[in-house]
Amino acid sequence: MEATVIGTGYVGLVVGTCLAGAGNRVTCADVDETKIRRLNAGDVPIYEPGIERLISENLAAGRLRFTTDAAEGIRTADVIFVAVGTPPGEDGLADLDYVRNAARVIGDNLRPDTVVVMKSTVPVGTCERVRAEIARRTDVPFHMCANPEFLKEGDAVGDFLYPDRVVCGVDSEHARQCMEGLYEPFIRSGNPLIFMDIASAELTKYAANAMLAARIGLMNQFAELCEHTGADIERVRRGVGSDPRIGSAFLYAGTGYGGSCLPKDVWAIIRSAEKQGVDLGILRSVAEANDRQTTVLVRKIVRRFGDDLTGLRFALWGLAFKPRTDDMRAAPSRAIAEALRERGAAVVAHDPAAMEQAREFYLGDAVEYAANEYEALDGADALVVVTEWLQYRRPDWSEVAKRMPRPIVFDGRNVFDPDRMASRGYEHYPIGRRQVGPDEIP
Ligand SMILES: NC(=O)c1ccc[n+]([C@@H]2O[C@H](COP(=O)([O-])OP(=O)(O)OC[C@H]3O[C@@H](n4cnc5c(N)ncnc54)[C@H](O)[C@@H]3O)[C@@H](O)[C@H]2O)c1
Repeated sequence: MEATVIGTGYVGLVVGTCLAGAGNRVTCADVDETKIRRLNAGDVPIYEPGIERLISENLAAGRLRFTTDAAEGIRTADVIFVAVGTPPGEDGLADLDYVRNAARVIGDNLRPDTVVVMKSTVPVGTCERVRAEIARRTDVPFHMCANPEFLKEGDAVGDFLYPDRVVCGVDSEHARQCMEGLYEPFIRSGNPLIFMDIASAELTKYAANAMLAARIGLMNQFAELCEHTGADIERVRRGVGSDPRIGSAFLYAGTGYGGSCLPKDVWAIIRSAEKQGVDLGILRSVAEANDRQTTVLVRKIVRRFGDDLTGLRFALWGLAFKPRTDDMRAAPSRAIAEALRERGAAVVAHDPAAMEQAREFYLGDAVEYAANEYEALDGADALVVVTEWLQYRRPDWSEVAKRMPRPIVFDGRNVFDPDRMASRGYEHYPIGRRQVGPDEIP
C-alpha cells in the first residue's frame, strides 16, 4: 500500500517507519525543514531505541522517504495518517490548529477513495470536523478513520510492531478493509484489531489515558498517607497490583506523571467535557493533585534545608519525563529545577538522552549539565533522583560517597531501598516510604 504520514514527530516517525518495515511505500512529511533535512541525512532527531536502524534499513530499501512537501505524498496515497501535534491551548483544550492545517493540505490534493486516518489524539467530533474541512475543498469521495495511537515513548517501536490492541473507528467497509490490510502484519499473534464508530475510538484514547493518570494519582495520594502512618507504598503497590482485577502497571508513586500525553490529555478531556456540560470531577482532582505532586521533592528539600536555598547545590539525576526518551514536555524535572533556582540554589543535571533538549528548549543555561551522573555530584549538597534511568538504579556507592561526603538523597522514583540507605549512612527521602532523616545517621 502507499501511505503518507503528515507530521514526523515521535508518533509519525515510528508509525511511518514501521509501516515501511511491513513492505508499504511510505512518505513521511513535516513542515519542520530542519527535521526533514536531518532525517534525509541519516540523523534521527529524536531519541527512541531501535528507530535508527529501522529508518536506515527502510531508506536503503527505497520504501521510506522524508519530505516537506506533503501535497506530493497525498496525491498518490491510498491512506493518509495525520500525526501532527495536538498541544494544550491556554484553556487546556486541545489546540487543533495543526490538525486543521493538515486537513486543508489533504483537501487540496486528495485522490478518490483515499482513507484519511487520524492518529493524533483529538477530542470527540474532531474527525467529523476534519471530514467537513476536506469536503469544503474537494468533491472526491474519501473515507475517515480514527486510529488513536497507544505507543509509549521509550518502547515505541515494539509497541507499534507488537500492539496489545489496535483501535479503529471507521465509517465504511473500504476503510475497515484498508486498516485490516495495514495492521495484519502486526497482529499475527491474535491481539485484537477492534473496530468501532469514530466517536467511540476518539474517546477511547482519552479514557485510556485518564485511567492511567488516575492510577498514578491514587498511588501518589496513598504514598502521602504512607508517610503519615508508617506504611510503605512499595509494599502496598505489590499487594494491590497482584490482584488480577487491578494489575501491576502504572502503580508507581513518584514525582507525578509528565510527558507529552497524560497531562495534556487529562486536561483536554476535562475541558471538552465541560463544553458538553459534563463535569469530570474525579479526573479534575487527579489533574490538580498531579500538578502539586510534581513539586513534592521540593517540599521535602525545603523541610530539610529551609526555604532559602542560597549557596546550596543540587545534583539532578534525570531530566526526561521518563527513562528511555529525550522528551521533556511537561517533565517534572523542569518544575523542580525552576523551584530550586527560585530559592537561590544552583542545579547541576545529568540525563543520558535529554540534555540537548533541555539546553536547547527548556532550561537553557539555568542549570549546569554534567558529563556523567557522578560528575554531577561534585560539590553537591544533595542528590535528587527525578527519572529512574537504569544506570541510576545501582550506582557505585563508594564513588557517590567520594563526591558527596555527607550524602543526602531525595528519591523521587523510589529507586533505592530506605533500610539499605540507612545502613549506608545516607539521609534518604523517598516517596511514601520510611524517611531516613539526619537524626538517624550516626
Ligand atoms: N508522543 C507520544 O508518546 C504519543 C503517544 C500517543 C499519541 N500521541 C499523540 O500523537 C500526536 C503527535 O504527537 P507527537 O509526540 O508525535 O508530536 P510531535 O510534536 O513530536 O510531532 C508532531 C510533528 O508534526 C509536525 N507538523 C505540525 N503541523 C504539520 C503540518 N501541517 N504538516 C506536516 N507536519 C506538521 C511538527 O513539525 C512535528 O514534527 C499528538 O496528538 C499526541 O497527543 C503521542
